[in-house]
Amino acid sequence: MNDKINIHTLQRLKRIGQKICMVTAYDATFARIFDQAGADAILVGDSLGMVVQGHDSTLRVTMDQMVYHCAAVTRGAKQAHVVGDLPFMSYQSSIHDAVKNAGRLVAEGGAASVKLEGGEEFAKTIEQIVRASIPVMGHLGLTPQSVHKMGGFVVQGRDEQTAQRIFSDAMALEQAGCYALVLEGIPLALASAITKKISIPTIGIGAGPHCDGQVLVCYDLLGMNPDFKPKFVKKYASLYDGIRQAAETFFSDVRSEAFPDEAHSFKSKPIRAVASKDNPELPSEHNEKTVYGAPV
Ligand code: KIV
Repeated sequence: MNDKINIHTLQRLKRIGQKICMVTAYDATFARIFDQAGADAILVGDSLGMVVQGHDSTLRVTMDQMVYHCAAVTRGAKQAHVVGDLPFMSYQSSIHDAVKNAGRLVAEGGAASVKLEGGEEFAKTIEQIVRASIPVMGHLGLTPQSVHKMGGFVVQGRDEQTAQRIFSDAMALEQAGCYALVLEGIPLALASAITKKISIPTIGIGAGPHCDGQVLVCYDLLGMNPDFKPKFVKKYASLYDGIRQAAETFFSDVRSEAFPDEAHSFKSKPIRAVASKDNPELPSEHNEKTVYGAPV
C-alpha cells in the first residue's frame, strides 16, 4: 500500500513540473501492462461502455459493472493510482447516492479515488464524498455523460461565455476539495489558463500540451479501432492489424491442421487401466485396455 502512487504523489508531480501519465484500463491484464510500463494513474473509465460494451455512449454503464471492472484493474495494478469512474446517474440523483456509490468503488472495487463529471453544481456532492475520506477527481469540458445536453461529443469552451464557465467551474471544484481535474475537449489556451490558475493537477485529453498530465483511452492509443480517428488521439500502435493478423493465422493453422503440432501437445507414459466393477466406464475385466491421457 505504501509503495502505491497516491493523490499526494500526483500533486507533487505538478509542483515539481513532472507530467502525470494516466491511461484507462478495464481488466487486470491491461492494468498489469500499464502498471509495469510506468503509469502514474489508471482510470477505470466509463468509456468502457463504448470500447468494451460497444454502446454509442457511456450512459448505460451501471454501478455493478464499474465495481466489477475496478476490482479487476486493482488486481493488476501494483503501483499506479487507480481511479474509479462514477457512472451516469450514480451521483446526480442525490448526495446520499453519490457518497454511497463512491464508497462502493473504493470498498468493493478497490479504487483509491473516484472521478465524476460536472462543475459547480456538484460542489456540495464533492465536499461530502471528500468528507467521507474518498478523494475526488473532477472532470470538465466535454463531459460524455452530458452527450444529449451538448448535442454530441463536441469540443467545449470555444466561445467567451462557455470558456468563462469552465474556468470558474475549475476554481469551484478545487475549492470543493477535488485533488485533480480531467480537462476534456477544450481549447489548449483555456486548459493552459486553468492549469496556471489552480494548484491541483490538470490531466488533459484533447486539451493541448499545457496540462499537468495526459490521459488517453487505452484502446485508442493502442489503435484497436481503425475507424476511430479523432484529432486528439495519437495511435502508438496498430493493434487492430496485429490482433487480426494473429487471429487469421491461427484460424488458417487450425483449418490446415498445422496447429496443434507435437510441440504443442501433451505426451504421457502409457497408462494401463484395467476395468473393474467400480469402473463401469472402462472395458470389462476380460478386456484389458491401455489408455493414454495423463499429462507428463
Ligand atoms: O471514461 C473515460 O475513459 C474518461 C476519460 C476519457 C477521461 O472519462
